[in-house]
Amino acid sequence: MTRILLLGGTTEASLMARELAQAGVTAVFSYAGRTEHPVAQPLPMRVGGFGGVAGLVAYLKAEGISHVIDATHPFAAQMSRNAIAACAQTGTPLIGLERAPWQAQAGDRWQTVAGNAGALRALPQAPARVFLAIGKQGLAAFAAAPQHHYLLRLVDPPAAPLPLAQATVVIARGPFDVAGDSALLRDHAITHIIAKNAGGSGAEAKLLAARALGLPVILIDRPELPPRHVVASVGAVMAWLGHGATARGV
Ligand SMILES: NC(=O)c1ccc[n+]([C@@H]2O[C@H](COP(=O)([O-])OP(=O)(O)OC[C@H]3O[C@@H](n4cnc5c(N)ncnc54)[C@H](OP(=O)(O)O)[C@@H]3O)[C@@H](O)[C@H]2O)c1
Repeated sequence: MTRILLLGGTTEASLMARELAQAGVTAVFSYAGRTEHPVAQPLPMRVGGFGGVAGLVAYLKAEGISHVIDATHPFAAQMSRNAIAACAQTGTPLIGLERAPWQAQAGDRWQTVAGNAGALRALPQAPARVFLAIGKQGLAAFAAAPQHHYLLRLVDPPAAPLPLAQATVVIARGPFDVAGDSALLRDHAITHIIAKNAGGSGAEAKLLAARALGLPVILIDRPELPPRHVVASVGAVMAWLGHGATARGV
């Protein structure tokens, strides 16, 4: 019997959940529990880590999971690595649903770097006004450059004091648009943008705004994962599941 574990936390995962629900496929949606008010899903939900690879192996067995769809964020590498290992151990078919990375276009002033440490090194020595668009994890790396002012955009207000000497926090949840992000960059007199190469449309507005304003972008490359089967669309996952010819033709 098909019983899917859908690892979520992205726009793509929510689209996947909708498609599975509409097709009447039995599935459980899993959130890490990072945000206070996660988006509701049309599938039964569970929240919180599994407890590493061993915990996930136990979960897959206990819940009789037949397939795993990893639709986590391209930077949620630990979860993806755990899924690869646990599915290999249990012989559970696994598919990654992952959006394509963004590609530089004419007018972009991008510098591609590895990790937060690479992004930190790419900043100038002189004080800058940085839109640090990396979420709430990994901010501590930038404490080493306290001469800069950092603009953060977070889903929830920070629960603990920020590790940054000079920071402004904006609370907002995507998707964002170019007009709004252009205004944000201008209003905060931003000189540099640091972003993860997440891909997709929901978080792309800041890059389009940077292009329009001629601002430099320090773009953090995706972490590498062991080889796995990956597709870029909900329809391709449905086809993999054997639901390629649903009523809406996905
Ligand atoms: N990293 C980003 O930039 C980013 C951006 C937007 C959204 N997200 C979403 O936020 C969540 C956490 O991201 P992260 O970067 O902290 O992940 P991570 O570093 O890869 O994961 C750390 C641990 O969190 C738990 N976890 C992560 N995703 C989970 C899920 N969907 N369901 C249950 N447990 C999960 C797992 O704990 P156990 O080992 O205990 O199982 C995992 O080992 C993900 O669901 C991701 O899709 C991440």
